[in-house]
Amino acid sequence: NQYTSEIEAFEPKSAEELEQFRIKFLGTKGIIKDLFDEFKAVSPEQKRVLGKVLNQFKQLAEAKFNDNKDNFTGAAQDAAASEDLTLPGEGFEIGGRHPLNLVRKEIVEIFKRLGFVLAEGPEIEDDWHNFSALNFPEEHPARDMQDTFFVEASSNPETEKGKKSEFALRTHTSSVQVRLMEHGKPPFRALMPGRVYRNEAISARAHCFFHQVEGLYVDENVSFADLKQTLYYFVQELYGEGTKLRFRPSYFPFTEPSAEMDISCTICKGAGCQMCKYSGWVEILGCGMIDPNVLDNVNIDSKKYTGFAFGMGIERITNLKYQIKDLRLFSENDVRFLKQFQTET
Ligand code: PHE
Repeated sequence: NQYTSEIEAFEPKSAEELEQFRIKFLGTKGIIKDLFDEFKAVSPEQKRVLGKVLNQFKQLAEAKFNDNKDNFTGAAQDAAASEDLTLPGEGFEIGGRHPLNLVRKEIVEIFKRLGFVLAEGPEIEDDWHNFSALNFPEEHPARDMQDTFFVEASSNPETEKGKKSEFALRTHTSSVQVRLMEHGKPPFRALMPGRVYRNEAISARAHCFFHQVEGLYVDENVSFADLKQTLYYFVQELYGEGTKLRFRPSYFPFTEPSAEMDISCTICKGAGCQMCKYSGWVEILGCGMIDPNVLDNVNIDSKKYTGFAFGMGIERITNLKYQIKDLRLFSENDVRFLKQFQTET
């Protein structure tokens, strides 16, 4: 019939033309569907003859469509058609925790078991919290112990021209001790992790920012023995049973007495290496009994309460744990470095 010749002559020039063709003949409201509907009504004898014709007609239209459909599928579908579906998939890149975060988490977990709670403070800090309340006297050289980044005076309208800005990037997390104590009542047993900034040239051993974990414990009758036992427990948990530690007298304006704590070198086990400068010992933190002046500054009765504090650099702790020799690796975001710390969680 007329449709047969139309189908045979059909030569689509575009995907739209082909689609028109499909709708006209093969669509759910198309000619073939209609013919099959009519076919239901005819007599059985006619069905035998017509059925054959109809089926041939349908096959003709389908064949035409199938022969042409690949001509217009477009570049994207061409590519898809030529893709080898048996190849393994590309998979997703799964991110991992940053080594500093892994170690911070580990430190926090250890102190949590001793009842320490977490606290945080701002990275832009005022002179009071970073220095004055911590017993750094005005214009005292102790302030130069830590090379401070001051925040531009113009951003603080209250600062007179020519005067040093009252705001700075905190040089240590000890500022959080002050914030905690001035807003609460003893006892305090807190751990304060965070980023700190110092104006130092960037090298393998120093950076202008790094991370610390501060610890604070204030209550009645807290002694230096409590400090030692707390840190002893921490070191055994983090670096393993049998890691030795020693305390050396030191100075911080906000602790009295003050000490620095060394651990036996976890890398060479005392045999001598660069990390411990061939001494067998590496310093990992500063600590001491909170100076009564600091307690007075935050209105805590220094006759009734005593306490200890400690502060450690997470980078140093991490270096010792994973034997990393260049601090800059932590902030360069080289995935080859970061991937080595990928964990399940
Ligand atoms: N804030 C000191 C530092 O950054 C470390 C410290 C913290 C020392 C608490 C004593 C007590 O070097």
